[in-house]
Amino acid sequence: MTPHFLPLIGTSGPHGSRSAMTCKYRCANQCDHPDPNQSGNPHIRALLANAVARRTILAAGATVSAGAALAPWLTSSAASAAPATSGAGRRAAALTFAPVEPNKRDNVTVPVGYDYDVVASWGDRVLADAPEFDAYHQTPKAQAGQFGYNCDYVGAFAHPTDADRLVLTVNHEYTDEVLMFPAGRYSDQTILEIAMQAHGMSIVEIVRGAREGSWRRVRPNKTKFNRRLTATTPFAIEGPAAGDKRMKTSADSTGTKVLGMVNNCAGGMTPWGTVLTCEENFNGYFDASGDLDPAYAESYARYGIAGEGRGWSDIDSRFDLTTEPHEVFRFGWVIEIDPFAPKSTPVKHTMLGRLKHEGANPRITTGGQVAVYLGDDERGDYIYKFVSAKKYRPGSGAAAKRHNMTLLETGTLYVARFTGDGEADGEYDGTGEWIALTTDTESYVEGMSVADVLIDTRLAADKIGATRMDRPEDMEANPVTGKVYAALTNNSDRGAKFPVDEANPLASSHVRDELGGPLVEASGNRNGYVLELSEDDNDAGATGFGWLLFLVCGDPEAAETYFGGYPKDRVSPISCPDNVAFDPAGNLWISTDGNVLGSNDGMFAVPTEGANRGQVLQFLTVPLGAETCGPLISSDGLTVFNAVQHPGEIDGATFEEPASTWPHTDRFPRPAVICSYRIDGARVGH
Ligand code: FEO
Ligand code: CA
Ligand code: CA
Repeated sequence: MTPHFLPLIGTSGPHGSRSAMTCKYRCANQCDHPDPNQSGNPHIRALLANAVARRTILAAGATVSAGAALAPWLTSSAASAAPATSGAGRRAAALTFAPVEPNKRDNVTVPVGYDYDVVASWGDRVLADAPEFDAYHQTPKAQAGQFGYNCDYVGAFAHPTDADRLVLTVNHEYTDEVLMFPAGRYSDQTILEIAMQAHGMSIVEIVRGAREGSWRRVRPNKTKFNRRLTATTPFAIEGPAAGDKRMKTSADSTGTKVLGMVNNCAGGMTPWGTVLTCEENFNGYFDASGDLDPAYAESYARYGIAGEGRGWSDIDSRFDLTTEPHEVFRFGWVIEIDPFAPKSTPVKHTMLGRLKHEGANPRITTGGQVAVYLGDDERGDYIYKFVSAKKYRPGSGAAAKRHNMTLLETGTLYVARFTGDGEADGEYDGTGEWIALTTDTESYVEGMSVADVLIDTRLAADKIGATRMDRPEDMEANPVTGKVYAALTNNSDRGAKFPVDEANPLASSHVRDELGGPLVEASGNRNGYVLELSEDDNDAGATGFGWLLFLVCGDPEAAETYFGGYPKDRVSPISCPDNVAFDPAGNLWISTDGNVLGSNDGMFAVPTEGANRGQVLQFLTVPLGAETCGPLISSDGLTVFNAVQHPGEIDGATFEEPASTWPHTDRFPRPAVICSYRIDGARVGH
């Protein structure tokens, strides 16, 4: 047994406690993780508004126009011939549900008048030849055909031939072996092999359930598109950094092929019907049997690559930095996958830079190119945008798709700089610039080549003086207004290691140790922000933007909080915004990770326009120990999809003595994707 395994048996490992181990490997379940940045209620009117045939809406295509964010699940061939959704879908409607109260239940809690179903849980069969899940007789091969662990991002695409089906794409970010495996039952090697197969993505066909807005899995032998991608699946490396010497390893002399993707956190859907999935805390997967190559010391340090992995090198030597110093450069990318081509080789796009990528959400520019908004989730790291060189080609034909699947290979990568007064007053008195780092042929960073900028993107952004943010997570354009929303989840070091600035103004904030306890002042930004960006001329290709703090999260009783100007006595407390989504009316939905106000994490809805702008209402809470991921609102507005990640991940919990047993199908927790819907079948939220 190597030291890497100590956490598996519930003792203090190289990373200390379980929470420390968790923080090290992923996105800071406990709200912060190490920082390598050394640079410096139902309503009758709503019911009537919703009286639109559900199948019509789901099959309908939103008009793909410049300036609009796109609803990619509407871009299949079945969708393209259908009429555009507007009207009811675009009508601003007040949120009418009675918000869920903060709580510590071991369950998903949805508003009165709503229900939820589990769509897919860890271990469910994805492939037709996969066995039924049995936690006591698990094998790597079984897991390779079953739904992976710790589901995160959820994408959904219209099925090309069946209007009652969707193709779900679900990330599996990381594994928690203490909660997954009965103690002493499996060898270390088997645990590692299973864990590698529990990473990646599941592509799963689902079909409408018995109730409006509910969904269930299609039996695997009745699907065309079901697929598992894991830490051993072959991927292609494309773009300007492909083939660079740092991309070459003993197994791949070309620097263009790599096995696996890891720590896939969030992502995005393209208008041409592919999914983007993002490698986040990839640094936590690489061990070191000896010294690290000094040639890469600066790069490794900036990304937190310290040879403190998960023990994978015990079964696969490419995860040993000492002997394979380059393998780590082949992780940390945005990956494009065609969910309708189960045998295709997915692509790691180097043109979008190498970061701890949170999400990647596209929007078409006024000039017809595609812009992709990108967050780098680390304390003090940056917000980025990619704009393609080539134009998006509308249409659902194979030729258009082939063309569009090359869009992310050439273009310009920008990083954001924010200036302004930083007051949360609802005014756009902040200005921002997108600073070009590199195109696919020309670097704008002194002393760095194009490949240097793309491989060591953080170092490049340090050099040009971008604004260090409070952990930029998901970033997405509102499909109705075009305004862009960025979740800045928290930063306990703000005000100390990172001086406050206009966009990151809090050096202290208020937390609550336990539900019902007093608010206590703590250093730094503990509850996070939501930034609103307004691109110049509402053009995603612009190089300037206005911005304001839309939400300063926390308990509304805390003086520092701000809710878009909405009365603070009429909002739900919200802490640690992580991922965002929009409903067809343009309301923002926010999932949280790491609540420091004493409650379980949850999902919130907030209007961004009109009289109710800033009215944050809690839509659901997830079980004890879980973070809320996914989020996605169906294009017919009837369903909220969430991933419930790491239920029961609490210090001291084990498989035998779990802190959660949700979804209550077994004696141990199973991360799962859920769908929430109104019992009366009307649109969610309204
Ligand atoms: Fe995996 Fe930044 O959340
Ligand atoms: Ca997070
Ligand atoms: Ca996240």
